[in-house]
Amino acid sequence: MKQVLLALSLLMLAVDCSSDQQSDTGMEAETAAAKAAIQQLTGALQTELKTAIQAGGPASAIAFCNTRAMPITQNVASEQGLQLSRVSLKNRNPANLPNDWQSAVLNDFEQQKAEGRNIADLAWSETVEIEGGREFRFMKAIPTGDVCLVCHGTQIAPEVSQVLAELYPMDRATGYQAGDIRGAFVVTRKLAD
Ligand code: HEC
Repeated sequence: MKQVLLALSLLMLAVDCSSDQQSDTGMEAETAAAKAAIQQLTGALQTELKTAIQAGGPASAIAFCNTRAMPITQNVASEQGLQLSRVSLKNRNPANLPNDWQSAVLNDFEQQKAEGRNIADLAWSETVEIEGGREFRFMKAIPTGDVCLVCHGTQIAPEVSQVLAELYPMDRATGYQAGDIRGAFVVTRKLAD
C-alpha cells in the first residue's frame, strides 16, 4: 500500500512538473506575442495621433481618437489573433471601463508606482481556467507623456474641453500629470487545451 502511494505521489509530481514546464514556455510565447501586439498598437496610435494634431490641432484630433482608436485597436487584435483593449481607472470612453480583475491590476500598478517602480516596467500576466478552457491574460501600464496632457492634463484649452464635453459627458480622464499611469493595455487570448 505504502509503495502504491509513493508511486502515485511520484507520478503526480512528475505530471505536475511537466505541466508547469509546459505552461512556463507557453506563457513566455504568449507574453512575447502580447507585447508585440501592444507595441504595434502603440506605434499605430501615436503615429496617427501626431498626424491628426499636426493636421488640425488638438480639438480636431479628438475626432481621430473618438472614431479611430477603437477600430485601430481591433485591427491589430485580429491581425495578431488575440483580444486587445485599453482600460483606465479614470476612463474617458465608457467602453474602456475596467472589469474587476483589470481594476485590481490597475490598482496594483498604482501601488507599485507609489513604491518607486518605473511605469515602463509595470506588466502583469496570468493564465486562468475559464468556462470551456483556459485564458491567458496580460496587462501593461500606459505612461502619461507631455503630448497627452493637451487632452488629459490639468490645463485643457477651452476649445478642447468643449469638444470633450460634447463627445464624453461622463469624461473622467483629465487632471493627469506627466509621469502618471494613464491606464493599461489588456491582452487576453483563449488557449487551446
Ligand atoms: C487629441 C486629444 C488626445 C490626446 C493628445 C491624447 N488622447 Fe488619449 N484619448 C482621447 C480620447 C478622445 C479618448 C477616448 C476615445 C478612445 O480612445 O477610446 C482617449 C482615450 C485614451 C485611453 C483609453 C482609456 C480611456 O480613458 O478611455 C488611453 C489609455 C489614452 N487615451 C492614453 C493617451 C496617451 C498615453 C496619450 C499621449 C501619448 C493620449 N491619450 C493623448 C484624446 C486624446
